[in-house]
Amino acid sequence: MNRMLISGGNGFLGSHLVSKAMKKGVVATVVDDMSTSKDINVPSSVKFIKEKIENFNTEEKFDFVVHLAARPSPEDYVEHPIDAILSNSAGTRNMLDIAMNSKGVFMYTSSSEIYGEASIIPTPEDYYGYVNPNGIRSCYDEGKRFSEALIMAYHRERHVDTRIQRPFNVYGPGIRADGGYGRVIPRFIVRALMDEDIIVHGDGKQTRSFLYIDDWLDLTWEFLTSPNLAGEVINIGSSEEITIYELAEMIKRMTGSRSRITFEKARENDPRRRAADTRKIENMFGWKPTVSLEEGLERTIEWFRKRIK
Ligand SMILES: NC(=O)c1ccc[n+]([C@@H]2O[C@H](COP(=O)([O-])OP(=O)(O)OC[C@H]3O[C@@H](n4cnc5c(N)ncnc54)[C@H](O)[C@@H]3O)[C@@H](O)[C@H]2O)c1
Repeated sequence: MNRMLISGGNGFLGSHLVSKAMKKGVVATVVDDMSTSKDINVPSSVKFIKEKIENFNTEEKFDFVVHLAARPSPEDYVEHPIDAILSNSAGTRNMLDIAMNSKGVFMYTSSSEIYGEASIIPTPEDYYGYVNPNGIRSCYDEGKRFSEALIMAYHRERHVDTRIQRPFNVYGPGIRADGGYGRVIPRFIVRALMDEDIIVHGDGKQTRSFLYIDDWLDLTWEFLTSPNLAGEVINIGSSEEITIYELAEMIKRMTGSRSRITFEKARENDPRRRAADTRKIENMFGWKPTVSLEEGLERTIEWFRKRIK
């Protein structure tokens, strides 16, 4: 039976990956410090090690080593910049060593944030990025960029089978919505369901592209388990842009909410536009997202509705 180690496996993407692994008969082990996930999100049958990934090591061997541990929400990581950068530097090194000693496949979730304020939209994998190296978001963006460099070094010098994916705003049931942690879709949904003001940062004309969790999971599984992909780097996301104001209006309409849409100060270094060039994954895997934004929002709203009212 195959074995998979997942750092950050208690988080949004990680807990979905654990479920998928279990369905596929793969035994998952999770290392998670629960810094950004509040409840235990994985079944009790899964081995759960509560530890910071930058402090973790093991002699155990794994067929797959998946490094997800990070603090990906901007309002959270600007409060914890040292933790944010260590999980994606020292933590990445620990996970690479475990993969190397196991002779297993290593997969990393980098981020569309490595492109920064991109001048090519939709952004292809070979765009180098335009990132502020010491700005308020650098603890996250540069941690991801450093990790990519370290991963490719392990691949080139030590021949580790490494695979890097760059997700673009994945959402769906299970994503956290509360406080300063919630990302834009869950935050808007919860506000709308409670008829509270939906707060847009900046003028709302900034764009994002969103991918439903099931589409992320299907492609991630294929990327992780297909042969002959050592050293590959792919975007995983949608090429369809929507402005944040349009997203707020859409969620307001779909929830039948009486919320007002209000504006607050723009976030520092917040990219104006973001969309994935998906031609590489279309060519490599014949992949297309199967869940539209409308449908994905419908499912996510239903999930939150059951938990709020
Ligand atoms: N969800 C997205 O849209 C998205 C987009 C781009 C990149 N990513 C990347 O995907 C990965 C997973 O994101 P997510 O959306 O599931 O976030 P999440 O916050 O839900 O999950 C991250 C998990 O990592 C854990 N963690 C954080 N720091 C840790 C540390 N130092 N040691 C051990 N565990 C630690 C948290 O407790 C949490 O359970 C992250 O690396 C993130 O940067 C996600």
